[in-house]
Amino acid sequence: MAIEAFLEALDQLAQAAQRTFEAATDDESLEAARIEFLGAKNGRLKTVQKGLGAVPGPDKRAAGQRFNEVRDLIQNALQNAKERIQAGSSGESASDPRFDPTLPGWTRRMGRQHPIAQSIAELVDIMGRLGFSLEDGPEIEDERHNFDALNIPSDHPARDPLENFYISGGDSQVLRLLRSQTSTVQIRVMENRKPPIRIIALGRVYRPDTADPTHYPMFHQMEGLLVDRHVTMADLKETLRLFANCYLGTDVQVRFRPSFFPFTEPSVEVDFFWNDRWLEFGGAGMVDPNVLRAVGFDPDEVTGFAFGLGVERLCMRRFGITDIRDLYTNDVRFLRQF
Ligand code: PHE
Repeated sequence: MAIEAFLEALDQLAQAAQRTFEAATDDESLEAARIEFLGAKNGRLKTVQKGLGAVPGPDKRAAGQRFNEVRDLIQNALQNAKERIQAGSSGESASDPRFDPTLPGWTRRMGRQHPIAQSIAELVDIMGRLGFSLEDGPEIEDERHNFDALNIPSDHPARDPLENFYISGGDSQVLRLLRSQTSTVQIRVMENRKPPIRIIALGRVYRPDTADPTHYPMFHQMEGLLVDRHVTMADLKETLRLFANCYLGTDVQVRFRPSFFPFTEPSVEVDFFWNDRWLEFGGAGMVDPNVLRAVGFDPDEVTGFAFGLGVERLCMRRFGITDIRDLYTNDVRFLRQF
């Protein structure tokens, strides 16, 4: 027998044995496989071994070596199959022993929007239905947009360094500050557009107040501005009533109290009657003719109203939050409630 034929027979035997041992699923089929391949009398390994005597003398050594390798390989396959079947019958799940269907599953917590973000989205939606589009402006402002163009004179107490976050350094020509009100966006929009204008601005404003249940050095305002022909105070009141009825409830009433802002004339404080109480939510008024002139509009042609409401106040009333600081402490146990 040529050595080639002998080695070929060994290879085929090795493959067949491996396949058969791997397919065995219990003691009986494993024992049958053992007898088939390793049986002392008529096992297939024995049968192949008989061919070794017919391999020519000079090749005998190599053929014998390969025979021993294949024998070890088949015995290993038998041992592996034995262990596998024993593990399978030890009482654990036949598939993955780490899988226990009685364990509680993972709780997946849904993330949610911050109450202020939720409120802002709803305010944008309500005002959008009233025809107001959303505008934006920078939080770092110059004095022109935060004060001058809003008719706030240079000696006005609202400019006091104790009332504002002025920013040092940078461009030395222009004094900058964190905006103290969103009324800055009124100016930015009117500088770039002609009436009719109907916009809101929603964003952060900054004032150096000590934090307490109703104050925080950063908060949000919703600014509204409408400029057109024949705009009156009645339009302002009706717009705020419609807004309050959408956001807080259909029975909410609106009250104006006389007030003063340099950029509106007349000016009012805006109260909503809600849950048996009058609560103040912001300021409003008819756009001062000086402001219209500052942006190049003719006060004899167009008039307008403006309002600024506290977003935190609206949000806190709506969700029953009593301390503004809770909104910014980022305690997830608090925020998860909304
Ligand atoms: N900007 C004012 C404030 O921050 C509110 C306001 C806005 C008043 C628009 C009148 C008109 O208090």
